[in-house]
Amino acid sequence: VETIRTEPYDIYIGSDSLGGLNSLLAKGKYTTVFILTDQNTKKHCLRRLQISSFASRPFIITIKSGEKNKNIRTCEKIWNELSKQNADRKSLLINLGGGVITDTGGFCASVYKRGIDFINIPTTLLAMADASVGGKTGIDFNLYKNQIGVFAFPKAVFINPHLLKTLPKRELVSGFSEVIKHGLIADRSYWNAIKGIKDLKETGSNLISRSIEIKNKIVTDDPFEKGIRKTLNFGHTIGHAIESASLRTTKPLLHGEAIAIGMICEAYLSRKCCGLSSDELDEITSFISRFYPPKKSSVSEKKLIGLMKQDKKNREDEINFTLLRTVGTVEINNSCSEDLIGESIQFYNSLCQ
Ligand SMILES: NC(=O)c1ccc[n+]([C@@H]2O[C@H](COP(=O)([O-])OP(=O)(O)OC[C@H]3O[C@@H](n4cnc5c(N)ncnc54)[C@H](O)[C@@H]3O)[C@@H](O)[C@H]2O)c1
Ligand SMILES: [Zn+2]
Repeated sequence: VETIRTEPYDIYIGSDSLGGLNSLLAKGKYTTVFILTDQNTKKHCLRRLQISSFASRPFIITIKSGEKNKNIRTCEKIWNELSKQNADRKSLLINLGGGVITDTGGFCASVYKRGIDFINIPTTLLAMADASVGGKTGIDFNLYKNQIGVFAFPKAVFINPHLLKTLPKRELVSGFSEVIKHGLIADRSYWNAIKGIKDLKETGSNLISRSIEIKNKIVTDDPFEKGIRKTLNFGHTIGHAIESASLRTTKPLLHGEAIAIGMICEAYLSRKCCGLSSDELDEITSFISRFYPPKKSSVSEKKLIGLMKQDKKNREDEINFTLLRTVGTVEINNSCSEDLIGESIQFYNSLCQ
């Protein structure tokens, strides 16, 4: 088991990492333990936890899966369950699932009775490499992404890459886009390694721990996103608008799929505003297109720009972007004209067959 120490919690990675959970649950530490799952992680991941060796029997709370349930109604259900079992301040919530579970569960725990402890056990590539660490928790509101939330850190994160075995391929690919992002914003040699990946089934501890290291370094320097943490928003200004628009349709994109499109558009903006070379733009565009074949967006540019204006990342009226200077170096707080944003979406659409 590899341990990444970070303030104020540790991250354990490896196929035996879950063993460490029992010592954290030592008798007397918590009055009641709750495990939050969705329908799929209940079916595929719960049995990996060896609940029988917990100091006391945990209560399982199960919610419906998917981004469209990352909302206040799901929180109410979770708070109701906690309340029904008389959860007190010394209760613990274990979030067993993807980013929807760790975001929603982390938020619910951190405000229930002004805050109870929670632990993350991510079960998707996206949550292992990104969402389960860093302390952002929250839910969507009126289908706008992550509008309600708090910064709150888990007591620990346990990552077992074997849990990915049951993850559907589409979900695995979606999670890969945050890994791509980590390479692009911070580390040319990591990006080169990522480009060498042919089959995502190879994804193991190494990739996940390098991604976490990159994210952690940035988050430790700026936990509350006053500045440098915005680096992590590359691809997310346009990506979140695309995701929000798609949540209003019958065929929503996954978070990582939307971010992949956002990264292509924002790489184009990087070329126009931030000095990214045309060779690197080509390199990024062709690699991302290989994993996420471009499909023409049915949403108008105007509508997407409207959604971008709702984003938390903005100050006043300007839409805020994190852009690439080169692969591995970024510039935060760029603003781009609406015309240029529209052009970047046309650039993406021009890649579609
Ligand atoms: N807090 C952060 O810093 C942060 C960072 C990145 C993304 N996010 C958020 O994360 C969310 C996306 O997370 P996600 O992609 O993990 O989505 P998710 O939690 O919806 O999981 C994806 C799907 O896979 C299923 N699943 C999960 N683990 C499984 C397993 N091991 N086997 C079989 N099925 C499994 C789930 O039930 C779900 O249907 C978005 O809401 C995004 O905004 C948060
Ligand atoms: Zn993301």
